[in-house]
Amino acid sequence: MPNRDTQAAWHYHNGTKHPDGFLMDPWHSYDPMDNPLLFKIYSELDPIPLSPDSSPTGMPALEAISSSVEPSAKAQVPNFMTLSKILHYSAGVTKRIDYPWGEMAFRAAACTGALFHIELYLVCGELPGLKAGVYHFDAHYPALKQLRKGDYRGVLVKASGNHSAVAGADAVICYTDVFWRNACKYQAREYRHSYWDSGTILANTLAVSSANQISSQVVMGFVDSTVDNLLGLDVDKEVSLAMVPLGCGSELAAVPGPEIKPISLETLPISDHETDFPPVREMHEASSLSDGDEVTAWRNSAQTRETQIPSGRLIPLDPFPVDEMPQDGLETVISRRGSSRQFSHDSISFRQLSTVLQTSTEGIPADFLGSNGGTLNDVYIIANAVEGLASGTYVLSRESQALELLDEGDFRHEAGYLGLRQALPADASVNIYFMVELNRTLETLGNRGYRAAQMEASIMAGKIYLASYAQRLGATGLTFYEDSVTQFFSPHAKDKSVMFLMAVGKRARQ
Ligand SMILES: Cc1cc2nc3c(=O)[nH]c(=O)nc-3n(C[C@H](O)[C@H](O)[C@H](O)COP(=O)(O)O)c2cc1C
Repeated sequence: MPNRDTQAAWHYHNGTKHPDGFLMDPWHSYDPMDNPLLFKIYSELDPIPLSPDSSPTGMPALEAISSSVEPSAKAQVPNFMTLSKILHYSAGVTKRIDYPWGEMAFRAAACTGALFHIELYLVCGELPGLKAGVYHFDAHYPALKQLRKGDYRGVLVKASGNHSAVAGADAVICYTDVFWRNACKYQAREYRHSYWDSGTILANTLAVSSANQISSQVVMGFVDSTVDNLLGLDVDKEVSLAMVPLGCGSELAAVPGPEIKPISLETLPISDHETDFPPVREMHEASSLSDGDEVTAWRNSAQTRETQIPSGRLIPLDPFPVDEMPQDGLETVISRRGSSRQFSHDSISFRQLSTVLQTSTEGIPADFLGSNGGTLNDVYIIANAVEGLASGTYVLSRESQALELLDEGDFRHEAGYLGLRQALPADASVNIYFMVELNRTLETLGNRGYRAAQMEASIMAGKIYLASYAQRLGATGLTFYEDSVTQFFSPHAKDKSVMFLMAVGKRARQ
């Protein structure tokens, strides 16, 4: 079973580190004028335009990102209009900006290099307003395009090792990664980005589903080849990453689906040339699961880990009380979100930081986290300018809902260096790092634990984007010098690897 040979994950992880991972070509060049087509477009399928009604749910963003709807009789069945909203606010085009090299379409969720390499597909039974089928979400049109007719949910139930949420789902969104669209700039690091950039989308999917009273959760355990075949993917170029089952009104899903016949549908070419990056495919293969039994065993191996007991001074989080919580609605916040391009040195308040941390780290319903709110990642912080909190380094104690002080001092300079010598992390009020004990995670979950750890961090980061913009703060994802970060937060972070970095602060310009 390749998933249990965890040298593969270490090889990939070490080989794609900044500054000089051995799987990276330092002479690689990238020109945005030469970008691939950033949309997947099935050229011969009729579009089913998404429902234009995007009337807001009215749920405050901060409530939506921290809540989840459990599968229960009260949960709603998604209809075409709700699905349109979920897809649009997950990965739809939310703004267009003109640049010297042309117009760029920005999406609902952040993405490394604005290369938008994640595609969404929908597999559903008969729903109000939508026939049973397998669809691709064409974000460019925007529309659904039907790839297969009929109810194929049973295929996903089997692929997921009979996961109960998939078995009860009315619809399932599948997230895939088109390698070249991101590797053209980032080479083999693209496989990390596949989780970074699908995680930010998943944060939106979970929040919009909750706001619409649709139950949802993250499923990362499935037989890769079955899902890829169902979606008709050319796996040398595009692979499945995750699924989110939506709704729970269905029993039909447990019925085995029709036979999966190969499909070959025309799509517009995305580039006149493509380079293959074998480490991307190799890491994906090494973390693939081959049958339902392996998937079930993988899911059962998810366990709640013991976290470090705080030994330093604890500063209790102080989030906004419910009646003072900023009320900006989820859809408004997603439309407003963008990655900050410059931070001022102004402070944010401890209350604002506490609200960001509390709402973003409350737990994600996911098959790799076990049933009682476990986590893989720990949250480390550099506070540069937070009113009511001494500048310094901290680690979040989720159990105590407090920050544990590691070291007091001014670390702006170090923050700038660790964040790849950029101004953004040095200028931001706080830098928030997600770090994981990779050895332990790989021991428990195999190479697929690498996918899971990246995904968990990225979903929390996506929530941080929304929690910041809900409070009219700025935020951006950032990349980093991984070994230097571990060293910087050690001894506390000894043996931990960075999965994601977010910077939050006051925007210097809009
Ligand atoms: C994981 C991640 C890492 C990022 N790293 C950087 C970075 O190192 N420097 C930077 O300026 N922007 C970074 N960004 C911001 C992206 O460039 C931005 O998301 C993209 O251009 C899309 O724009 P938008 O977020 O405003 O929609 C990062 C975003 C993500 C999600």
